[in-house]
Amino acid sequence: MFRSHLIRQVVRASGQAPRAAPRATQPATVSRPFSSAACRLNKQPPRDDVDAATTSGEPGESGDHEGQYARTQDNIRVEYPEEDDLPRSQPLQGRGGFHFKRTLASFSLEGRVGVVTGGARGLGLVMAQALVTSGADVAIVDMNRDEAQRSAQGLIDTYKAENPGSDTVPKVTAHFCDVSSPTSVNQSFAEILKEHGKVDNLVTSAGFTENYDAISYPHDRMQKLWGVNVDGTYLYAVAVAKHLMERNSAGSIVMIGSMSGAIVNVPQPQAPYNAAKAAVRHLASSLAVEWAHAGIRVNCISPGYMLTALTKKILDDNPELQKQWTSLIPVGKMGRPEDLMGAVTFLCSDASTYVNGADLRVDGAYTCT
Ligand SMILES: NC(=O)c1ccc[n+]([C@@H]2O[C@H](COP(=O)([O-])OP(=O)(O)OC[C@H]3O[C@@H](n4cnc5c(N)ncnc54)[C@H](O)[C@@H]3O)[C@@H](O)[C@H]2O)c1
Repeated sequence: MFRSHLIRQVVRASGQAPRAAPRATQPATVSRPFSSAACRLNKQPPRDDVDAATTSGEPGESGDHEGQYARTQDNIRVEYPEEDDLPRSQPLQGRGGFHFKRTLASFSLEGRVGVVTGGARGLGLVMAQALVTSGADVAIVDMNRDEAQRSAQGLIDTYKAENPGSDTVPKVTAHFCDVSSPTSVNQSFAEILKEHGKVDNLVTSAGFTENYDAISYPHDRMQKLWGVNVDGTYLYAVAVAKHLMERNSAGSIVMIGSMSGAIVNVPQPQAPYNAAKAAVRHLASSLAVEWAHAGIRVNCISPGYMLTALTKKILDDNPELQKQWTSLIPVGKMGRPEDLMGAVTFLCSDASTYVNGADLRVDGAYTCT
């Protein structure tokens, strides 16, 4: 009684609305069963709101509140759209000019060549732009050949517009690849080496998510999802690591995981995606250990909910989802793709020389709660 009374006082003092209409308090003589199992079996009516929130009550009996039951809902389905239905992404404006603010030279990627899988669009495109802005040449690798070509040209055009006095223009190339196919990975990588001569950094952003409840998930789609997110990450990392070892050169690989590799998102069901991203995170740690002897670092970035052209389309179609998502993010808002620019530059650069096998969560503190 004392504890629940105290909590009610704290809630009142903090100005929060009570979660549900107060119930009549039971007389103090009612004793609580010692075992919670007995309580569940007997289904005694809860005595007040705080009791109702325990196994004494039914789910939700303590009232409506943010996050509600932290459960997935089987009726939510979002299939990854067909290529023609995918919205386009544009390079950012106003982020890439030379500046005269002092910063650590070790953050520069001058003279490096970076590969970004899934770089035609979304987070990959913005991370490719971060590498270009930091001095690297970049090869965009994507299954969408036309979009990759357009984005590569877009990065060059944006760079030229924002650096009118620059004598050098970064080399940005586009390469077709289905990262889930070893043959396609090897072909595209050979093409990149022919054009750029070497590779120092890899960012694996090719990946996708979709929402089905686990019972209904079509098996072929699940295999495709793991094929792109897990096999694709692994295959490209191996191709780059092999090249670095042959060159006897250090390098840095950044795998794009997700906070979904550490928590279970609600309310949309996505068990195979969550498992895939957990695999990506642990792949980064495992390969970091395996390749440390060769000076090849492997880290993971785990973004939270980021507002890309694609997530915007999904949220425009499901406005309730956006409210539920943001209500669960401690900073109260979704991230923007540019919020990954610093993280990816840091992990690719010599500023992070001793950071290896890490998972950098860029999620507005979502995974802290
Ligand atoms: N957007 C988010 O909120 C969010 C959050 C956490 C993690 N992520 C992860 O970030 C990465 C990028 O997501 P995004 O939101 O930019 O998605 P996106 O769909 O906008 O971009 C993904 C890109 O990958 C390419 N791609 C897909 N399958 C491919 C394949 N087999 N081979 C080569 N390229 C392929 C697509 O053509 C596209 O250009 C994904 O791995 C995603 O899981 C995204």
